[in-house]
Amino acid sequence: ALRGSFAPKAQKPNLRSQYGLQIQGSYKVAILGAAGGIGQPLALLIKMSPLVSALNLYDIANVKGVAADLSHCNTPSQVLDFTGASELGNCLKCVDVVVIPAGVPRKPGMTRDDLFNINANIVKTLVEAVADNCPDAFIHIISNPVNSTVPIAAEVLKQKGVYDPKKLFGVTTLDVVRANTFVAQRKNLKLIDVDVPVIGGHAGITILPLLSKTKPSVSFTDEEIEELTVRIQNAGTEVVEAKAGAGSATLSMAYAAARFVESSLRALDGDGDVYECSYVQSDLTDLPFFASRIKLGRKGIEAQIPSDLQGLSEYEEKALEALKPELKASIEKGIAFVQKQP
Ligand code: NAD
Ligand code: LMR
Repeated sequence: ALRGSFAPKAQKPNLRSQYGLQIQGSYKVAILGAAGGIGQPLALLIKMSPLVSALNLYDIANVKGVAADLSHCNTPSQVLDFTGASELGNCLKCVDVVVIPAGVPRKPGMTRDDLFNINANIVKTLVEAVADNCPDAFIHIISNPVNSTVPIAAEVLKQKGVYDPKKLFGVTTLDVVRANTFVAQRKNLKLIDVDVPVIGGHAGITILPLLSKTKPSVSFTDEEIEELTVRIQNAGTEVVEAKAGAGSATLSMAYAAARFVESSLRALDGDGDVYECSYVQSDLTDLPFFASRIKLGRKGIEAQIPSDLQGLSEYEEKALEALKPELKASIEKGIAFVQKQP
């Protein structure tokens, strides 16, 4: 069982993760940026989780209506709204998982790095509040550029003296969701069977699907490998262009983020069989942050899986070497942003 329970139901026999059951969990989740394009559908999906008892929604605008609307759903969790810096601390008290989709999205022609100047500050400020109010929480960073915002969050937590690398996650689940979908379509496989690990980072060529490690085992022609890899790497841009100025992926992102939240809650709840890909502090390569498959447990990352990086195809080996300079530069940019602040 390598996938999160957010995968189609037939894949996961774990009853706790099936919606609609009366098993009630007691976990508290906060979403920062909850009134946004990702925040709203993500809040809805988390409101449906039987593992959640409290859902705190924070945004700088428009969050009151979102919370009022959502609170009428007859699922167990209580929904509360928080807005403005003065309410951020209360939003985060005793929270188990904090999800951060706050920030601006891309428009056509932009790279994720073009969002750095605005989103770096937003993530820094929000993670400072997380450090002050719920330093033991799992922190899920969605705001782009993820390759830099996760190192920013790590530096902030270090400065605050509360950094636990096992609990800081860049959310790259959407890359896996896309890889699974595209591979299943291309190879005519049943969607629920397909699992493709995606490593590296979350931008352009730093996104590296390991097609050679697809489950179930399947063979690809060189053309298929090239075509699928490029499509997975450019899938975010595909959505940005289709939305033509109205933002980037929100619905598929909310689905992916909800899967990662659900996996985190199952791990916190003692499920010993939870694996996801995520961009985390890593010693699998010479880069300090790297996305790979991880095993989640009650205390966060329980293990990284070095064997995933062994036995790569020649194509993957080359792509791995090619992505390192860009990912390294994005990491260094994030770290420098925090370190150069007065
Ligand atoms: P959006 O503009 O629709 O929503 C962002 C929300 O953040 C807004 O409601 C805004 O009010 C709020 N916000 C801004 N500053 C804030 C602050 N200081 N505190 C709290 N909330 C604040 O954007 P979106 O489409 O939801 O995308 C959000 C981010 O997620 C973007 O940076 C986007 O690039 C990123 N993203 C990441 C992935 C991924 O795979 N990791 C996928 C899709 C989008
Ligand atoms: C995505 O992969 O969809 C997100 O990172 C949003 C974007 O800007 O592409």
